[in-house]
Amino acid sequence: MSNKIYIFDTTLRDGEQVPGCQLTTFEKVHIAKELELLGVDVIEAGFPISSPGDFQSVIEISKAVKDPIICALTRAVEKDIDCAAEALAFTKRGRIHTGIGSSDFHIQYKFNSTREKVLERGVAAVKYAKNLVEDIEFYAEDAGRADNQYLAQMVQAVIAAGATVVNIPDTNGYCTPEEYGAKIKYLFDNVNNIHKAIISVHCHNDLGLATANSMAGVINGARQIECTINGIGERAGNTSLEEVVMIMKTHKELDLETGINTRKLFPISRLVSSMMRMPVQPNKAIVGRNAFAHSSGIHQDGLIKNKKTYEIIEPEDVGVTQTSIVLTARSGRAALKYRLELIGYKIEMDKLDAIYERFLEMADKKKDIDDVDLKFLMGESKDDRGIVLEDMEIVCGNKHPKATLKLKLKGKSESASSEGNGPIDAATKCIDKILNKEFVIEEYLVQAITGGSEDTSKVHMQVKHGTNVMTGFGADTDIVVASVHAYIDAINKMV
Ligand code: KIV
Ligand code: ZN
Repeated sequence: MSNKIYIFDTTLRDGEQVPGCQLTTFEKVHIAKELELLGVDVIEAGFPISSPGDFQSVIEISKAVKDPIICALTRAVEKDIDCAAEALAFTKRGRIHTGIGSSDFHIQYKFNSTREKVLERGVAAVKYAKNLVEDIEFYAEDAGRADNQYLAQMVQAVIAAGATVVNIPDTNGYCTPEEYGAKIKYLFDNVNNIHKAIISVHCHNDLGLATANSMAGVINGARQIECTINGIGERAGNTSLEEVVMIMKTHKELDLETGINTRKLFPISRLVSSMMRMPVQPNKAIVGRNAFAHSSGIHQDGLIKNKKTYEIIEPEDVGVTQTSIVLTARSGRAALKYRLELIGYKIEMDKLDAIYERFLEMADKKKDIDDVDLKFLMGESKDDRGIVLEDMEIVCGNKHPKATLKLKLKGKSESASSEGNGPIDAATKCIDKILNKEFVIEEYLVQAITGGSEDTSKVHMQVKHGTNVMTGFGADTDIVVASVHAYIDAINKMV
């Protein structure tokens, strides 16, 4: 059996089913082109019968993308299949993904039917689709809860009818890895034509087991994983693409490989997150903001001695440019010395104790210590910070949001006024005017600290100028003031 695992990306179909995260056709095409550069084998581009937008997206993605197979979803219904085939007319390598429920829950309650009749409908759908497109994938919906003997019968029948790929979805994220792995093994042991098709795993994350289940599936013979960027998808989401890919890359003994260019994982994660307006949780494996940030003293000390002590993946391998040693009250002397050296201070060991004492006092008051704080600690004035917000006035509302802002630049005050399409736009335009430069906000995330309308809001922002990208942070009870602080914080890191 080959050790190549096909990566079937369903960010634009199952991933896009997240309420409130719908994309325009233009955005979908943009993401599809990046998925092609990432090296996915299949892009599930949509469910054409579901809406004119999905139909059009499949057409546009088919025109824009050359290498991956473009797949369109259908129910086991002729008009769905006709519509999918029509949308796929512009691709060189199209696939129809059709299927029907396989668990008794679906057979009885969704279809009010019998196992025999549902199996016949599945086979008929594959035969019908095969007349229109050569590459047919069949999904046995809710296979996670289906009776294995019946599932094996269904898989054998659809392969005989012409299915080239058979998908065994754990639609409700119900299985444990042992159970799911055993299900795939059962199929390999009991379906006599199974080697004529690729078996695919499609796991949902309702119990947090999607990645583990997908891995159990490929270890037991499946050769395609259906997954999404950042693990997005309905309810708790789908298998996360970056996780399964990095598991296979890290665990060489599994002898499984993909065609993914892992250095593109972090950039595409951020692209999908911002286009879908769905923040990535900070502790998300592989692509979370903290995935490579070490803040405890023991870890930082080990990491400075040798990266391999606390890092199993090179951050650069997934497109993260630096491991961050975050200085907090839990950091040790070694981390402080390391960060001070990075910004140009050579510290003798006998002086370190005194500086460390002062550092701990500061870290007790302020959560994260940045380079400007360190300079202050080493006796340089805080006014060295290039730009300081002195004053701001904002007019909000649905007519003409306006801002007037006063900044201190190296000790000198300068002000500007501007209108904008909202208060943050107006305020940041004032800053751009004063600095005579244009910055672009690439990512913007507001979070409450404890909740309630009197709460302090925290703003994280990614700001770009040319090729320079920096993140900034600001906190205030006023969300616009917090945003301006975050914007200035990012710019201060650049200049
Ligand atoms: O989860 C599922 O069963 C699906 C199928 C439609 C493939 O998304
Ligand atoms: Zn699904």
